Amino acid sequence: MRSDNFKIIGDISLPGDKSIAHRVLLLSAFMKGQHTIKNFPNNEDVTTTLSILNQYGLNYHLNDNNIQIDSRNIFFKASEINCNDSGTTARLMCGYLSGLNINCVIKGSNSLSKRPMSRIVNPLKRFGVNIDCSNGMLPIKIKQTNHTKKKFNYQLNLPSAQIKTALIFYALSIDGESIIDGKIKTRDHLELLLSYLKYPIKINNNKIFIKGKHRILNSLNISLPGDISSASFLIAAAALLKDSNLIIRNICVNPYRMGFVNQLIKMGGKIQLINKRSKYGELVADIKVQYSDNLMGITVNETDVPSMIDEIPIFCVVAAFAKGDTKIEGVRELKYKESDRITAIIDNLSAMGADIEKSNDNLLIRPKKRMYNTTIKSFGDHRIFMSFYIANLVLGSFYSNQLEEGCYRKSFINFIEVMQKVVYEKF
Ligand code: S3P
Repeated sequence: MRSDNFKIIGDISLPGDKSIAHRVLLLSAFMKGQHTIKNFPNNEDVTTTLSILNQYGLNYHLNDNNIQIDSRNIFFKASEINCNDSGTTARLMCGYLSGLNINCVIKGSNSLSKRPMSRIVNPLKRFGVNIDCSNGMLPIKIKQTNHTKKKFNYQLNLPSAQIKTALIFYALSIDGESIIDGKIKTRDHLELLLSYLKYPIKINNNKIFIKGKHRILNSLNISLPGDISSASFLIAAAALLKDSNLIIRNICVNPYRMGFVNQLIKMGGKIQLINKRSKYGELVADIKVQYSDNLMGITVNETDVPSMIDEIPIFCVVAAFAKGDTKIEGVRELKYKESDRITAIIDNLSAMGADIEKSNDNLLIRPKKRMYNTTIKSFGDHRIFMSFYIANLVLGSFYSNQLEEGCYRKSFINFIEVMQKVVYEKF
């Protein structure tokens, strides 16, 4: 049973998009110059990418959320890098460093060392990079070779933006035009940034054509739009809590990231995108969300999953409070995130009293009248923690008894502060 203790009211902005921030940092290294990034999200994942680039001589000064970068003296030499817990850093760096023909070792935390890396190592190996990993996982070792790297034409069968992006970064340093052919479209932030910077990249249906070895002579001066993945927790809370009314300003609404919002609207969510505009090639909008009293269960098709891959945990929370059953098809990639998210979602929602099961490759959620708040089992996973923090809020408990758990800082550095700002107690 949903509680009527709280409502969400506010007009807020959020830290910059994490995926774009990783890409902008790597591009600012590639562009060897002086750059400014405003609304830098400063979460643990992007600071990992930043520290690695700093290790190679990229200097920066961070003031509030603005960062000044000087990459004029960056120099990539034999090295060992630590990607901590950031899968995006590990995979993107792997593509980037493979193009530079240096010896290097890519390492990470224990948790990152359990996540699959052959998805990026295998294609690079096929293109002639001297690269290996350990049983499909970190550490990845890249060794210098004498032979010149050749342009490639690769059919990417996995719907992974990380792999696509890593291969684009690799292609930037290869002579000639490389082609990446991807059946299922995924977030295209790097493609949009490169086009905005007039780099020779073309997109034609499923194919991306990148001409390597071109320089970009501009300085980057960019203000990052807010992160839709962070916004999704607030959108869910506002849609589920009676009398809520929330505006989230300046959010990146890239179509390949909008699965959560689109599915919620299909369920009956009162969500509007207003003031749509284009910024640095990205679509940006303000998102208005109101309490949605009639959310109905739906079926999410496998092809819709990549556009809401990081939002499946919070989407399951919403589905557990809707009327009628929800089915999400094709969830296998969730096993390879910061935790096995299928297990984490099932464990937490079951503990709350929902009826949830995995059958074949699908998740089935049957809402129950009686649901209970519980101690969150985060599995050290930021998105699991934030999703069940919202579930507890909907069930009437604002302050989780696990506030000391800081794993949300991986992607949403000020999550707790933002929640404290927009949650109002009614009685
Ligand atoms: C990301 C892509 C997604 C996502 C991750 C960030 C990116 O991973 O889960 O949080 O920035 O490219 P996959 O592309 O591997 O699914």
